[in-house]
Amino acid sequence: MKTTISLSVPAEVEAESLVAVVLDHAEPAPKEKDKKPQLKVAAADPVVQSVVADLLASGELTGKSCETNLLHKPAGLKAKRLLLISGGSAQKFSGYDLRRIAGAAVRALKTRGIRSFAFVAPPGIPAEEAVRAIVEGAHVGNFDPDYYRSDRKDQKIDELTIVTSGNTDKAALDKASAEAQIIGESQNFTRDLVNEPSNRMTPTILGERAKKMSAEVGLKCEVYGADKIKELKMGAFWSVAQGSDEPPALIVMRYEPAGAPEKPLLGLVGKGITFDTGGISIKPADGMEKMKYDMAGGATMIGAMRAIALLKPKVKVIGIVCATENMPSGKAQKPGDVQIAMSGKSIEIINTDAEGRLVLADGLYYARQLGCTHLVDAATLTGAVVVALGHNNAGIFANDDDMYERFHRANAKAGEKMWRMPLDDEYKEQIRSSIADIVNSGGRWGGAINAAMFLKEFAEDTPWIHLDIAGTAWMEEQKPWIAKGPSGIALRSLVEFVRSFAG
Ligand code: BES
Ligand code: MN
Ligand code: ZN
Repeated sequence: MKTTISLSVPAEVEAESLVAVVLDHAEPAPKEKDKKPQLKVAAADPVVQSVVADLLASGELTGKSCETNLLHKPAGLKAKRLLLISGGSAQKFSGYDLRRIAGAAVRALKTRGIRSFAFVAPPGIPAEEAVRAIVEGAHVGNFDPDYYRSDRKDQKIDELTIVTSGNTDKAALDKASAEAQIIGESQNFTRDLVNEPSNRMTPTILGERAKKMSAEVGLKCEVYGADKIKELKMGAFWSVAQGSDEPPALIVMRYEPAGAPEKPLLGLVGKGITFDTGGISIKPADGMEKMKYDMAGGATMIGAMRAIALLKPKVKVIGIVCATENMPSGKAQKPGDVQIAMSGKSIEIINTDAEGRLVLADGLYYARQLGCTHLVDAATLTGAVVVALGHNNAGIFANDDDMYERFHRANAKAGEKMWRMPLDDEYKEQIRSSIADIVNSGGRWGGAINAAMFLKEFAEDTPWIHLDIAGTAWMEEQKPWIAKGPSGIALRSLVEFVRSFAG
């Protein structure tokens, strides 16, 4: 999608469609039923305001978020159409909402065969922030995962113009737009990887995609196989990989910009289970097809490394993806087996379906061996996090409050929702084993925390964040702003987090 900034008056912009945001300025009423929406268009242009005045006054609109109205040949506007899109309450309106309605505008227009439009940045949000939100949200909306349908329409928006008057520092706005485009494209790159089914996204193929991307953006990338995994004594990673005929891949991407200090060295570690059958502790058939997205954490790290390489912050980053299938077979590990992780810790396998924490245990330890001073992992780790937080917030765990605060700020900036979960020492009880150092499954209660406690054993004293994206990496249904399928969650926060170290 080509994006340009325009400082013109909205009415003067020539476009297939102009898009303007409608906000509800009603004061909170004591009774919901007494509440009448007070709708105003968020555009400081009297011509736009007069075109929509009657519609907004008609009482026909609810003003609920993502409600749309398309007007043809709007009087006084150079644009062929005017799409009104509601952003909900004016008081609560933020960059988070703006991303959503930018995505919704893209989806509303592209299904009508429109390929280009101009979005009027609402004056209430600082211009640079608005530009970022609109460009990122528009990219999210532009993605559709139906590649394998013969009747795929492949409708997309090719050109987006952002009309803004809030800040006339055009260079700063152009930069914001270009950076947001890199992030949006990287998020969609990740979504493409996640969307592929497991027969088309084996660990080997994931490694090849990481290599190809790395060559394109100037990252160093090594992809190691079973020999190296065994040589490194990654007994936890290998215990999962041993059950599959498909070779595993240990993907290591390095971003080492000239002039960056030796420290910090950030480590991004992703779970790359290209299919999770559960292994010998096999999963029920119902819904198992979805376990193709169990490599979303890994794909997120590959996409984040792409964005980082293109944005060029002055900080060193290593991306590590532990990719394998989790299969039942004559070679598969069995419940009761004891494995020795790379760190030397012994693990009693209670449930072979708790495989993500096994591959990450070695991934995190390896990152520390490579000198990482700060760690972040992302993983579709537990069903329990979906029970706890549903599909709207990813779970965030941290062994260090400063690290959490920093990530939280990045989160807010990136417009992604995550909720912190506890990691008190008391939970350690849950993963105690009578025959080894720890068990790999602490049982049902607090399942997401047990999994995080397990990882914490391998992050040890290195500041570390764990993101459990099991409930958020896949949209169960389409929304006005995003297709059903892979969401690309966490990439934007990760990129902001990395940039926060670059001063
Ligand atoms: N990949 C799953 C977690 C998952 C569940 C991801 C739902 C996406 C949607 C993970 O490997 C797993 O199987 N976890 C088990 C752990 C249990 C055996 C301790 C779970 O959550 O049931
Ligand atoms: Mn599993
Ligand atoms: Zn899994």
